[in-house]
Amino acid sequence: MLELKDVCFTIKKDGEPHHLVDHASLKVPRGHFMAIVGPSGCGKTTLLKTIAGLNPESDGSLWWNGRNLSEEGDLEPWEIGYVPQFSIAYPQLTVDESVEAATKLRVKSSSTEELDERIDRVLEETGLATLADRPVNVLSGGQMRRLGLAMELVSDPRLLLCDEVTSGLDPRSERDIVHLLHDLSRKEGRIVLSVTHSLAHLELYDSILVLHEGKVAYHGPPEGLTHYFSVDNTELVYPRLAKQASEKWRHAWLKHRDAYHQKLIINRDRMVDEGSLELPELARSQTVTENQETEELVEEEMSDSIRAPGFVSQFFTLLSRRWRILLRDRGQIILQLAILVCFPLLVTLFSEKANANMRKFSAATSSSIEAKIEESAAVREDRLKVGSAVSGMIMFQVVLLSLMGSNNAAREIASERLILEKEKFGGVRPLAYLASKISFLAILVVVQSLWMAWFVDFFWPFPEAAGGFTRHVSYLIMVNAAMTAVCLGISSLMRTAEQASLLSVYLVGFQLPLSGAVLALPSHVETFTRPFISAYWAWSGSVKSLSGEHLTAVKTVIETALSTTNVCFFVLAIHIVVGLLASWVGISRHQWD
Ligand SMILES: Nc1ncnc2c1ncn2[C@@H]1O[C@H](COP(=O)(O)OP(=O)(O)OP(=O)(O)O)[C@@H](O)[C@H]1O
Ligand SMILES: [Mg+2]
Repeated sequence: MLELKDVCFTIKKDGEPHHLVDHASLKVPRGHFMAIVGPSGCGKTTLLKTIAGLNPESDGSLWWNGRNLSEEGDLEPWEIGYVPQFSIAYPQLTVDESVEAATKLRVKSSSTEELDERIDRVLEETGLATLADRPVNVLSGGQMRRLGLAMELVSDPRLLLCDEVTSGLDPRSERDIVHLLHDLSRKEGRIVLSVTHSLAHLELYDSILVLHEGKVAYHGPPEGLTHYFSVDNTELVYPRLAKQASEKWRHAWLKHRDAYHQKLIINRDRMVDEGSLELPELARSQTVTENQETEELVEEEMSDSIRAPGFVSQFFTLLSRRWRILLRDRGQIILQLAILVCFPLLVTLFSEKANANMRKFSAATSSSIEAKIEESAAVREDRLKVGSAVSGMIMFQVVLLSLMGSNNAAREIASERLILEKEKFGGVRPLAYLASKISFLAILVVVQSLWMAWFVDFFWPFPEAAGGFTRHVSYLIMVNAAMTAVCLGISSLMRTAEQASLLSVYLVGFQLPLSGAVLALPSHVETFTRPFISAYWAWSGSVKSLSGEHLTAVKTVIETALSTTNVCFFVLAIHIVVGLLASWVGISRHQWD
C-alpha cells in the first residue's frame, strides 16, 4: 500500500513559498491501477516525481507498506520503476540490447540462463518479442513507450510510475498501452500510477486522481467522476474545474471524500451481489486488510530474490555498451578516423624544416675575424630555422592532441545526462559510471597519442636526449589525458551538450596563445594563466626532452622560460586529477531538469 499524508512540494516564488503539490493525501492499495489527470501544468509530473523520491517532499509524509519513506529509508531502486516523458534508450542499440543492458544494470543474475529468461519474459510481456533485433532508432512511438516500460519491468518493480506514456500516440496504440499497464497492475500486486492527459479508456483504471493547481480535486473510481463533478461526460471535467478556485475543490473533496467512498462501496457491493458488476480493486482492497501479513511475506521474499548488481558488473555493462554505441555510430567512427589521419599529417608538413642540418662552429679556428662572424651568423641562422620548426612541431602536436581530448570528452556525459539520471535512479553507481568513462576514454587517449607520436616520428625522428622520445610520448599522452579529463568535468557540470562543447572549444582555443610558445606573455599575466594551460606544460616538458643541440636551437627562438620535466609532469597530473574530481562532482549531482 502506498499512502500520501498531506504531502507538499514547495518552491520559492518571488520570495514566497509556492506549493506545486499542495497537501496531497491518498491511499493506493496493492494491485491498483491509478490515473493522474488534470490540465497542463497542474503538477502531475511534480507529484509523480515526489512519489518517486526525485522531488523530496517539503511537508507531509509518504508511506509504503506502513513504512515512513522519509524516516525509514526510500524504496530500493529495484522496487520502483519510473518511465519518464523522455526516451531512455540509445538509438544505436537494438531493443534486445537495450533491455539486456537495463537488466544487467539493475538486477543481479546468477546465470546467463536466468538473465535470458528475464529478458525474454519482459519482451514477451510488453509485446516486443518479435521486435527484439530491431534498432531503437526505427521504432514507432508506441513501440518506444513499450521499450521504456520493458526497461523498467526488468526488476519486477512493486511500484510503476509512468509519465505520459500514451501522449502523442494514435487511439489504437494508446488503448493498447493502457491495456498493457492495466495488465501489469494485475501481476504480483504491482501498483501502477499513470500520468495522462487523455480522458479516454478511464474505465480501465481502478481509480482516477484529478489534480488542480497541485491540489487533489478528486480521487475515486472512474465511474464516480462525472457524478462527482456533476457533468454529463468526462470531457467536461476540465472546464468544470476551471469554474472554481483549486482551494475550494480541495476542501470540497476533503469534506465529501469519506461519504463518497462509502456510498460507492455500498453501491458496488449491491451491484456485485446482483451480478452486474465485478468488484474492482479499489473497493476490494479498501475493505480487506487480512491479506496484509501475506503481502509483507511476499515483499520479504522479493527483496531476498532481487539484488542490485555489484560495481564490477555495472562497470563492465556500461563499458561494453559504450564501445558498442561507438562502433555502431558511423559518423563518430569516420570523424575519429579522419582526425587520426589528418592531424598527424598536418604536423608532418613542417618536418622538412625541422629535419634540416644545423651547421656547427668548426673546431679548426679560422684566423679571420670576418670568417668567424660569418660562421657564427650561419650557425645562428640554422638554429633559428630548425629551432622554430622543432618548437612549432612539438606545440602543434600538443595542441592537436588537446583538440582530440576536447573532442573525446566534451559531449560524453552532457549528451546522455537524462539517461544517466534515470540510470542512477535505477541503482547505477556514479563511481561505476565514471570508471566506465575513464576506461573508455583512456583507450582513445593512448591510441591517439601513440599514433601521433609514432606517425610524426616516422617523418621527423625525434632528436632526443637519452630516453627523450619516451618522455615526449608520455607528455603527449598526459596532455591529451589532461584535456580529456578537464572536458569530461565540463561535460558533467554543464546543463547541455552544446554548452559543454562550446566551453571545451574555448579552452582549447586559448591553449596556443596562452602557452607562451609563440609569444611570451607579460609576466604578471603569465603567473595567473600558466597553471591552467596544459599545452604549455606538455610543450615545455617535451622540449626539455630534446637533444642538447636541438634544445639550444629551440632556446634561441623562444623567450619563454622552460620548466623542469618533473614539474611539467606533476602539473599535468594535477589537471587530470582536477578534471576527474569535477567529473565525479558533476556525475553525483542530481540534475533531472
Ligand atoms: N523545479 C521547479 N521549479 C519551479 N517550477 C516548477 C518546477 N517544477 C515544476 N514547476 C512548475 O510547476 C508546474 C507544474 O509542473 P508539472 O510539470 O508537474 O506539470 P504537469 O501537470 O506535468 O504538466 P504537463 O501536463 O504539461 O506535463 C508548472 O507550472 C511548472 O512550470
Ligand atoms: Mg508533465
